[in-house]
This record gives sequence, C-alpha cells and structure tokens, in this order.
Amino acid sequence: MSQNQFDKKSQAWSALFSEPMSELVKRYTASVSFDKRLWQADISGSLAHAEMLAAQGIISRADQADINCGMAQISAEIASGGFEWQLDLEDVHLNIEARLTQLVGDAGKRLHTGRSRNDQVATDVRLWLRSEIDLIAGLLTELQQALLEVAEQHVEVILPGFTHLQVAQPISFGHHMLAYVEMFARDAERMGDVRKRVNRLPLGAAALAGTSYPLDRERVARSLGMVDDQGQPCVCQNSLDAVSDRDFAIEFSAAASLCMVHISRLSEELILWMSQNFGFVRIADRFTTGSSIMPQKKNPDVPELARGKTGRVVGHLMGLITLMKGQPLAYNKDNQEDKEPLFDTVDTLKDTLRIFAEMLGGQLNPASGLKEGGIRVNPEAMERAALRGYATATDLADYLVKKGLPFRDAHETVARAVKAAIAHQVDLSELPLTVLKEFNSSIEKDVFDLLSLRGSLNARDVLGGTAPKQVQAQINRHRLRLG
Ligand code: ARG
Repeated sequence: MSQNQFDKKSQAWSALFSEPMSELVKRYTASVSFDKRLWQADISGSLAHAEMLAAQGIISRADQADINCGMAQISAEIASGGFEWQLDLEDVHLNIEARLTQLVGDAGKRLHTGRSRNDQVATDVRLWLRSEIDLIAGLLTELQQALLEVAEQHVEVILPGFTHLQVAQPISFGHHMLAYVEMFARDAERMGDVRKRVNRLPLGAAALAGTSYPLDRERVARSLGMVDDQGQPCVCQNSLDAVSDRDFAIEFSAAASLCMVHISRLSEELILWMSQNFGFVRIADRFTTGSSIMPQKKNPDVPELARGKTGRVVGHLMGLITLMKGQPLAYNKDNQEDKEPLFDTVDTLKDTLRIFAEMLGGQLNPASGLKEGGIRVNPEAMERAALRGYATATDLADYLVKKGLPFRDAHETVARAVKAAIAHQVDLSELPLTVLKEFNSSIEKDVFDLLSLRGSLNARDVLGGTAPKQVQAQINRHRLRLG
C-alpha cells in the first residue's frame, strides 16, 4: 500500500502505526454510535478544563476564548442535528475535539493538555448520570404523589390482606398503596446517596498517573458543580482509581434494579387484581391491549411489560458488575462497555416511572384542573373477597386473650370455631352467639363488633397499622415530607 493510501485510511493516532484498522475492527471498537449522547457533558467538562488551563496560565485566555466560541458552535450543530458524527473518529470525545480543531485551529489542539480520554470519559459519564439521577428523583416524587392520592381516596376501602397469597386479615386499600410509597421513598433516598459518589471529579488524573502540568482540580470540580453539602469540591483522590472506578455506575444500577423490583411487585399485584377472579381494580384502556383472537380480552400489557423489563435492568447490573471483576488497574477498553447498559437502565427506569405515575394517578385535565383516568377501584369486590377466608379469625383470638385466655389456647379455640364455620359454609360473624359460646363461654354479644371487617380494621390502631386513623396520619406525614 502506498504511503498516500495509508494516510487517507488510517486512524488519527500517529506515525507509529504501520497499517490502518480494518472496517470490522473500526466498527467493533468505536463507541460513537451510542456515546454521542454524552455530548453535553463532554462539552461542559472541556469548557471547565479550558477555563482552568487558562487560569493557571497553561493556555492563553485567547485560546480559551477560541475554545468557548468553537464549542458554542459545536453545541448548536449537535442540537440542530447538523453535526457530522464520524465512525472513523471512534467516540464522542475525538469527534468533538476534531471538529473544534477544524473550527479554531491550534487552540483546539491545546484543549487536551493535561488530560486523557480516560479521565475525560469518566468525568462525562458522571456528569451525565448526575443529571439523570436528578430527573429520576423528580419522577420518583411524582409516582409517590400519585400513590398518595390513590391512598387518600381509599383509606376506608377494605380488601383482604394476604400472606402466602391466602386471605390473612382485612386491610385498608390506602394502607396497601402506602406500602409502595415507602418502597419508592427508599428508592429516592438511595438515589440521593448514590448521587454523592457519582458527583466526584476524575479530571486531572489524566491517563492514569496524574499530570506534570500544574492543574487546579478543585477549581474544575467547583465549576462543574461537583461539590458536597458544605460546598467543598469533590475530587477523586487517587489517579488510578479515578480513571478505572465504575462503582458509581454499579451502585446506580443496583438502586435502579431495586426500584424496578418494586415496580415489578406492584405490577404483579395489578395483574392479579385485574383478573376476573379478583376484579379489584381497572386501569385505563390506554394502558391495556386487546387480543387478536379473543374479542372479550383486555390485557394488562403495561404492568406485564414493566415486570418483564425488570429482568432487563437487573441483567444490566449483572453485566456491569461482571465487566469490572477481572480488570487490572487502571483504565482498560473494557470500560467502554459500561455505557449501553447504563443508558438503557436510565431510559427504561425513567419511562417506567413516568408511565406508572400516570397509570395510577391519571392525567391532569387542564380544563377541569382535575386528574383523570387513573386506577379505578371496585370496593365491593374487595370487601366481598375479604369476607371469604375468615379474615377476622385473629380478632376472635385477640378477644379471647383479652378475656384471660393464653394466646396459644385462644388460637386453638378459634381454629375449631373456623372449622365449624367452614362446615356450615358461613363466616365467623354469621355463627350464632350460642354456637360461639360452645367454644368458649366467655364470648359475649360484643364479639360481633370485632368480627366485622371494619371492627377488625379499626382495632389495628398502632403506629404503622392499618386502622384508617393511622393510615391518614401516614398520608399526612408523607405529604409533609414531599412538600
Ligand atoms: N471510548 C472510550 C470509552 O468509552 C473512551 C476512552 C478511551 N481511552 C483509551 N485510552 N482508549 O471508554
């Protein structure tokens, strides 16, 4: 191959290389097709780096001004779709830098002073993920608010609470919704905690060992908003760790996986509750689909798909954690594989949270100022289900304990009463007092207050319990917390 041909085809590296990359290898190693979505973070990082280089006298203020100018134009080009991404330039970093040099000449070539793509990419991913975490935090708040509204409207609605999916005790539907509020509140808390470790600056670590230029890393951290609660700059303190650490991505994926697991459990319940055998709830038609063969069907596609997508997000966590396990220090090209799982995790989680907030809470109708089209509850079906399965048996046992029976004996006595009720195909509350008295003579007429669903509900008046008074108190607490 002549020298000329080689020049045209070769990569941007240097005279060191004696043959160009094959098209296959180019395609295999390039990341620009997906990492171009880091472009805003890449430009922000470069602007902060250039500002610091100028402040430290490493480049001139004139060069910095050219860089700012060029980057403004590049931002406009990318935003308008006019930027020409080139596979030959491998990734987002080299694409932007090459265009900058094309636009502003030598100033563009000076930008990379004291920097490597290794600390650059780690910085970009962190900046990008930080802003995504902030969006996710907002979506988690919206979902909690939607659940709170549903809870508030159904504090007094009774459904059977299950253990082992067997009817256990009557509970308030509002209480049930609040269980999910707790889960999503923890998810938000976890995201906030992950954010602290995402928000640290690798730049200045250069390729792996630091750099011989007198960089001011804390200045860069400050200008990128990488500061702690006290406003102190957060800078990665070991250059090897700075370029090779992806713990923050794994932690985020773990938090996202757990959040999806909560969504998946809620989905599973919605799917059960929507089946004809339960008939507890309905979701708006726009979240369901019909069947191409069975005209009567309305399938809960959105909850089913969310349950399915949970597997994909958990899979990404496994991918990321496996990606790291065999890597020697410091940066390795393996790390380029962190992006697609991370991007897909963010996209899946955001879409899922958005869709669930709307599916449960409904959509705001600007004309009426009210939310419409949220989840619809069938209190009669829930109550009917709670009446099957002797959900108030524990209440009868508690009644006997208050009459002086040891709990284990009371438990046994009630088991016999339930057996009799089953034989007669009636509820405990439908057994005549004379029959109940045969099991224990201390049983009086007042027992029927407790054997009703509502009596059972009201009795659980303990902090965190299902008594409507307690449920309302929790709703008030959450409202205050969410502001
Ligand atoms: N595209 C690379 C990545 O995503 C950027 C860093 C490449 N560094 C290198 N020394 N090859 O990780």
